[in-house]
Amino acid sequence: MTASIDPAITVRDLNFQWPDGKTVLDCCSLDVPRGEFWMLLGTNGCGKSTLLRLLAGLLPLADREAVQVSGRVGFVFQNPDHQLVMPTVGADVAFGLVEQGLSYREVRDRVEDALALVNLAHLIERPIYALSGGQKQRVAIAGAIAQHCDVLLLDEPTALLDPEGQIDLVERVRDIVHDRGMTALWVTHRLDELNYCNGAFLLENGQTVDRGDPERLKARFLQGQI
Ligand SMILES: Nc1ncnc2c1ncn2[C@@H]1O[C@H](COP(=O)(O)OP(=O)(O)OP(=O)(O)O)[C@@H](O)[C@H]1O
Ligand SMILES: [Mg+2]
Repeated sequence: MTASIDPAITVRDLNFQWPDGKTVLDCCSLDVPRGEFWMLLGTNGCGKSTLLRLLAGLLPLADREAVQVSGRVGFVFQNPDHQLVMPTVGADVAFGLVEQGLSYREVRDRVEDALALVNLAHLIERPIYALSGGQKQRVAIAGAIAQHCDVLLLDEPTALLDPEGQIDLVERVRDIVHDRGMTALWVTHRLDELNYCNGAFLLENGQTVDRGDPERLKARFLQGQI
């Protein structure tokens, strides 16, 4: 596997075991080129969420050198109920922005822009408990986008969305990643999303067993070779 010249995310020989002794990542390596939108594929339980959480600093690393992520990180959890912490949609998307010292106007503009991106501008006042699963997932994506981070990590962010909303959202996120010069790593099981990324990784047995052209990886997946 060839390495990227200017990666924003670098993983080198990363090992990770849960306290019960289960090895999830076993000498895992990958790199995501700066400014690009990459996806991560792999079967249930292969370690995709664990890898993303390690990249975001949400799990302790035995070897800190094994992971390098440049800049501020935004994260979208696989389960939006693990992400949404405020009582209403608007307050949740604004969470953390005030603490960054942004003006009221800047916070409001970012919240409105992010909610428009996920087609939820009309629900800004809605309590979180009164949202559907797909709407919660859209709010979680808006919250990460509003952070204006350098690196975006998204764990199956469209898993709860209807097919039309799913493709619309992957296109929108891809465009915003490119327009803002961000770098993104997006976990998915939905192969049609691969049409929108610069490249993809396959994770298997704790390692990235393949990386590169999304079409080729999609074909490999469909042939059941992993
Ligand atoms: N807190 C935990 N303690 C112990 N084992 C865990 C824990 N969380 C996950 N695991 C195990 O680690 C492995 C990798 O889990 P992970 O959630 O990273 O998989 P995944 O690739 O994201 O799967 P999916 O496609 O189902 O989301 C699985 O075998 C899982 O059972
Ligand atoms: Mg997962």
